[in-house]
Amino acid sequence: MNTFHEPVLKDAVLQQFINIEEGWIVDGTLGDGGHTEYLLDHTGPGVGLLGIDRDASALARARLRLERFGKRARFAHGNFSQLLHVLKEAGIDRIEGLLLDLGVSSMQLDTAGRGFSFRHDGPLDMRMDRDEATTAADLLNTLSDRELETILREYGEERNAKRIMRAIRKAQSKSPIQTTSQLVQVLSHAVGSPRPTRIHPATRTFQALRIAVNNELQHLTIALRDSLGVLSAAARVVVISFHSLEDRIVKTFFREEQRGCVCPPKLPVCVCGRKATLRVLTSKPIIPSMEEIRQNPRASSAKLRAAERVYA
Ligand SMILES: C[S@@+](CC[C@H](N)C(=O)[O-])C[C@H]1O[C@@H](n2cnc3c(N)ncnc32)[C@H](O)[C@@H]1O
Repeated sequence: MNTFHEPVLKDAVLQQFINIEEGWIVDGTLGDGGHTEYLLDHTGPGVGLLGIDRDASALARARLRLERFGKRARFAHGNFSQLLHVLKEAGIDRIEGLLLDLGVSSMQLDTAGRGFSFRHDGPLDMRMDRDEATTAADLLNTLSDRELETILREYGEERNAKRIMRAIRKAQSKSPIQTTSQLVQVLSHAVGSPRPTRIHPATRTFQALRIAVNNELQHLTIALRDSLGVLSAAARVVVISFHSLEDRIVKTFFREEQRGCVCPPKLPVCVCGRKATLRVLTSKPIIPSMEEIRQNPRASSAKLRAAERVYA
């Protein structure tokens, strides 16, 4: 695989960090290093980027690409939910920015052996970090019927969750589902074959399994919360999400942290004492232009939200 993942909304990301003159920005989803490279190219020598990725192979590719920046680029293999641990190991107390560009990279999607895509035949794996134990095939084998249905409905926002769960169980009673194409075949029988005007019938099930295998929503929630402890005054947290579940977590977190006080509106004075920790910079999410989507269709569902750390 030689082509790099195309960084989404890269100018909007740069705008959020352009005024930083000194200090560290964490790219918690380094991927192919596209955003990191763009930020390093457009900021001064006092700015460094610490790239984190849970996928060791992504990290290896990005390291090579970013070699020319020397000490301005640092790397950590891990989960962005381990932000505090990673920073401690790196000897960094405060950061000037955090970027999370969620989901999978083109490299992961296009590598059949990773099992992320219903368009390629491969093992039903879907682990971003291959040191972790549980694959998508393992999940299908170990979840109860109810758990599987809930994951399909909640993480895939799949209306046909029950029907799909039953179809999976029926197929498994004959032979285990171990590959992406076996699963696609089961889904086609359950909810119909692909049609040009509709999303592929496997889209939602694959999304649901990927989110579950990688615990994506939990890690996002932890990283957002923990970032508050290390962001300098006026430092920015910027998140690009690709589906409504992620976007809702970011939007709600930003809104609650901006509000501070959680007292019921009836109370005449605040008794909770909570202060705002963030100021929201994007009242509406920033989305890609038609031109960007034309050039990079994977950008089509992207939403960027940004907020700035404030200290009371
Ligand atoms: C959309 S890609 C990022 C692409 C990158 N911005 C670029 O321009 O090349 C997402 C990357 O984040 C990684 N990732 C997703 N969730 C993660 C998490 N919780 N912790 C660390 N890395 C994560 C994935 O392994 C993947 O490489």
